[in-house]
Amino acid sequence: MSIEISPATGQPLKSLEEWEDFLKVRYPQPAGATPAPEVKRVIVGTDPTKKEVEFRNYEADARPTVREFYRQNHLHQTYEFGKAKRAEYLGRNRLQMGVWEAAEYLNQLVDDSDPDTDMSQLDHLLQTAEQLRRDGQPRWMILTGFVHDLGKILCLWGEPQWAVVGDTFPTGCAYSDKIVFPRFFEANPDRHDPRFQTPLGVYEEGAGLDSVQMSWGHDEYIYQVCRDYLPIEGLYMLRYHSFYPWHREGEYGQLLNQQDRDNLQWVLRFNKYDLYTKSHSKPDAKALRPYYEDLIAEYFPAKLRW
Ligand SMILES: [Fe+2]
Ligand SMILES: [Fe+2]
Repeated sequence: MSIEISPATGQPLKSLEEWEDFLKVRYPQPAGATPAPEVKRVIVGTDPTKKEVEFRNYEADARPTVREFYRQNHLHQTYEFGKAKRAEYLGRNRLQMGVWEAAEYLNQLVDDSDPDTDMSQLDHLLQTAEQLRRDGQPRWMILTGFVHDLGKILCLWGEPQWAVVGDTFPTGCAYSDKIVFPRFFEANPDRHDPRFQTPLGVYEEGAGLDSVQMSWGHDEYIYQVCRDYLPIEGLYMLRYHSFYPWHREGEYGQLLNQQDRDNLQWVLRFNKYDLYTKSHSKPDAKALRPYYEDLIAEYFPAKLRW
């Protein structure tokens, strides 16, 4: 398999939307818990000793930029890396910002080189939240939609794309082969550490996701920022919205507890708003701001620690 992007370039995606566009190709159905993806069989290379391997269409058809992004993600997201990032960020003493202010701060993250969209990060947050609002979802859920990607501000603090976005997965135990591009885990040092390569790894059976150290990214960070302010269903949406191997593939049942099983429906309910509302028209942020400022004030203090 050839990689057309040099690993030295560091940031393979033209914009973070490339990852999300890929997710939409991979999970095209807006409803249903675990739609079965179409599978095709291909031969890898010409080496006759190599086995025939199943790949889903979305892997074969992925852009080189997306493939390189996942290669970096699977290579670098180790158990120790996740621990180090938690130690670095979860003291949360970088700055204090209100929620709307954080959305404007995130909105600096613009990538003019993506010709496919003129949508900003704030537009995506407003689109998600506005669709929830139109559908009459509860106020806390509309607010959850508005804040769900604020953790992408990690990009503004120098974190590489692979440490901010991408499907998340448990570290410290065996990787599910339902994680996209599973073969890229061969290069991850944890893949060759026997402590981490059983289905339970360092965890107890049924321990619950709260005690599982997920790969590091924007989900975990925004969950930690919001954990004192939103109901548990909303917190599950924040913390696990990129955990596709669980909420769309049904993997990692051995780690779940009853609370996780109860909240899966909420994560799924949220996922369709996150993934499938992006093509709607550009929201009028100025006109919408008063509504969201009121909603924010209902749940959050004026300033949050980031
Ligand atoms: Fe996200
Ligand atoms: Fe999102």
